[in-house]
Amino acid sequence: MPTTLNSIAKQGANGVAMMPIIQGVGRAAIEIAAVLRGAVFRGVLGGAGSENVQGEQQQKLDVLSDEIFLEEMRSTGFVCAVGSEEQEELLVIDEYAHADYVVLVDPLDGSSNLDVDGPVGTIFSVVRRKTANSDYPHVSDTLQSGRNVIAAGYVLYGPATMLVCSVGDGVHGYTFNPSAARFELSHANIRIPAKGGYYSVNEANKSSWLDGMGDNLDRMKDETGLGMRYVGAMVADMHRTLLKGGVFLYPADNKNTTGKLRLLYEAIPMGFVMEQAGGKSMSNGIHVLDIEPEALHQRVPVYLGAAANVDSLLG
Ligand code: AHG
Ligand code: MN
Ligand code: MN
Ligand code: MN
Repeated sequence: MPTTLNSIAKQGANGVAMMPIIQGVGRAAIEIAAVLRGAVFRGVLGGAGSENVQGEQQQKLDVLSDEIFLEEMRSTGFVCAVGSEEQEELLVIDEYAHADYVVLVDPLDGSSNLDVDGPVGTIFSVVRRKTANSDYPHVSDTLQSGRNVIAAGYVLYGPATMLVCSVGDGVHGYTFNPSAARFELSHANIRIPAKGGYYSVNEANKSSWLDGMGDNLDRMKDETGLGMRYVGAMVADMHRTLLKGGVFLYPADNKNTTGKLRLLYEAIPMGFVMEQAGGKSMSNGIHVLDIEPEALHQRVPVYLGAAANVDSLLG
């Protein structure tokens, strides 16, 4: 019998809830993957005609993925609120407003790839609420550092749909088996290779990077001799970095002066997974997981990958 998603659940108080929450992520992933495959036939490619709080034009699939993910989190009964890239305010699940857990999500990552049938993803993390269960959930429940993350991971919608996640005891990858209609463990205990791989960055922005990062990148390229790959979807770039090694970065630049990637929906969950796989994730001179979030949609510079490469880049 193949090992299914249930194996991710740990014993103890959090494990009891992480199993249904991660199964909920798995159900959302299956639904989103199906919607992506059929999108061109159902007229759901292209813009939704709305702008999200990030100042981005929402794609119809950003909105649909957000709805699917939220509904699956609601149905677990363990989630009191969801913070989403696509929602300005914290979304409280009234029916379960006294539940213990808060989920943060980037429902569809890399949505600029949709028009060209390129890879996209979903990124999530789970924390325990800070307010009392008797209280109505508050945005302060989401403003927790990566040290409080109980579970985090991502789904990659590529040739196969993969769910890669950690509940704090290493990183495990599950591939959706369409014949059996379930996720099966395909990549147990993923560790980032210490050497090799690629550097991954939108190098076109180099002349506008802040903090002298252009010079740092040139030095790292000389020191490591790494080749370059860039998909433009953090999930795909992170996944390759995790499996092949190297470093992924999105520095601050003249346009995005505090960085582009979102702390709660992108940097913290990916930082958690990277560190659980033996890698390193840094931002503004500290570990991403040590940042104390100040706002739901806060952005930060991100440098993550094999420790030696991150050190070579930032040193
Ligand atoms: P999203 O589609 O969720 O808004 O995220 C886009 C992000 C991330 O996926 C990727 O790493 C980065 O934007 C790419 O940005 P550039 O196009 O500026 O390189
Ligand atoms: Mn977006
Ligand atoms: Mn994203
Ligand atoms: Mn997104």
